[in-house]
Amino acid sequence: MSIRARPAPAVYEFFAGGGLAGLGLHGFRTLFANDMDRAKAASWRANHAGDIHVGDVWTLDAGDLPGRADLAWASSPCQDVSLAGARGGLDARRSGAFWGFWRLIEALETEGRAPPVIVIENVAGLLTSGQGQDFGTICDVLAGAGYRVGALEMDAAHWLPQSRPRLFIVAMRGLSGPVASGPVGPFHSARVVAARTRLSQRAQAAWVWWSLPAPPRRNLDLAALLEPDTAVDWFTPAQTGALMALTAPLHRDRLEAARASGERRVAAGFRRVRVERGQKVQRLELRFDGLAGCLRTPSGGSSRQYLIVCQAGVVRARRLTGREAARLMGLPDSYVLPKGETAALKLMGDAVAVPVVRALSDGLLRPALEGRAVSPASAFPGPT
Ligand SMILES: C[S@@+](CC[C@H](N)C(=O)[O-])C[C@H]1O[C@@H](n2cnc3c(N)ncnc32)[C@H](O)[C@@H]1O
Repeated sequence: MSIRARPAPAVYEFFAGGGLAGLGLHGFRTLFANDMDRAKAASWRANHAGDIHVGDVWTLDAGDLPGRADLAWASSPCQDVSLAGARGGLDARRSGAFWGFWRLIEALETEGRAPPVIVIENVAGLLTSGQGQDFGTICDVLAGAGYRVGALEMDAAHWLPQSRPRLFIVAMRGLSGPVASGPVGPFHSARVVAARTRLSQRAQAAWVWWSLPAPPRRNLDLAALLEPDTAVDWFTPAQTGALMALTAPLHRDRLEAARASGERRVAAGFRRVRVERGQKVQRLELRFDGLAGCLRTPSGGSSRQYLIVCQAGVVRARRLTGREAARLMGLPDSYVLPKGETAALKLMGDAVAVPVVRALSDGLLRPALEGRAVSPASAFPGPT
C-alpha cells in the first residue's frame, strides 16, 4: 500500500513586492503573485521560480487566479479602508487597494474556491487609523464572510536587529488553528487588545486569540550584519561632524560616552524633525541598543538611516547599504537586489521581514492547514 505525500499548501500572494512574504512562507508553494510596480516585480522574478503578474489589483478577476489556494496573503495598503466604503466605486478604487483584493475573494467565493486562510499584513498603525475604523472594517468584512479573525502585532526585533512592528490579521474558515483562551504576550499587544474592544459585535463574535509559539531569544546584533569597514564609503570628517552637530544633548552624551570608551560601538541614526521651543529643528537620533530603526522607503529625510561607528576614540559615519538592509529583513546574501542603492532600500523599506512570516507559517498557518494543534504549553505564557 503506498502512502501519498500531501501536496504543499498553496498561496496567492497579493501586493507581493520583492516576494519576502513568499520566502517566509516555508512549506508553501506560490500559485500566483501580483504587484503593480514593475521594478519590484523584476526583483520578484530575480529571486523566485515562476512568474509574477504585473498590474493593478483592480484589473484582476477570479479567472486570473489559477487553481485553489489554501492561503491568500495580502500586504495591501490598507489606510482609508473605512473611507472607501463604496466598495467597487471610483473612490474605493482610488483609495482602497484592500477592496480590490477583497472583491477577488468574493469572486472566488462564488466559484466555491475562496481560500480557508487569509492573512492581511500592514503597519501597526492600521489598528488606530481612521479612529480604528480601518481595522474594524477589515475584521467585520472577514467575519461577515464566515471567517474567524484574530490579529497579532509582531516585531521583527524578536528575530532580527531591526525594530519593525507589523500587524498580521489572520482569518481562518473551516479549520481549527491553535488558539489561546485570551490575550497572551508578546503578540497580543496592548494595542491589539484595545482595538478588539472597538470592533463590531459580529467581528467580536468571530474573534480568536491565535496562539503562536514564543519567539526565540534574538542573538544577532546590528554590528554583526554590517559590511566590512573597508568595503563601504565613509563620510568625510567634515560631513560626519555636520551630521553629529544635529544630535540633541542626550544623544550627544551617549555618543561621547561610546567614543570615550575606546571600544567598537555601533549606533543606528536617523534624522527627525522635532519641535523645540516652538521651532522645527532637524535632529539626528541615535540608538545604541544593537537594533536598527525601522527601515522605510527612502523618500523623506527621516527615512534615511545612518550608521555611526565609534572605535579607538574616533567617530565615523556612513549610510546603511541596500545589502545591510536586506540582511535586516532576514534575507540571505544570495537574494538578488536591484542595482541602485535607492531602489534596494525602497524594496526593503516596503517589505515584510522573512523570519516573522516564517514564524507565522510554522507556528500557526501550516499547523492549522495540516490539522495539527500546537500544544498550549509551547505558546508564549503570561499576559501582556
Ligand atoms: C507593503 S508593500 C508589500 C511588499 C511585500 N510584502 C514584500 O515583502 O516585498 C505593498 C506593495 O503593494 C503594491 N501595490 C500597491 N497598490 C497596489 C495595487 N492597487 N495593485 C497592485 N499592487 C499594489 C506596491 O507596489 C507594493 O509593492
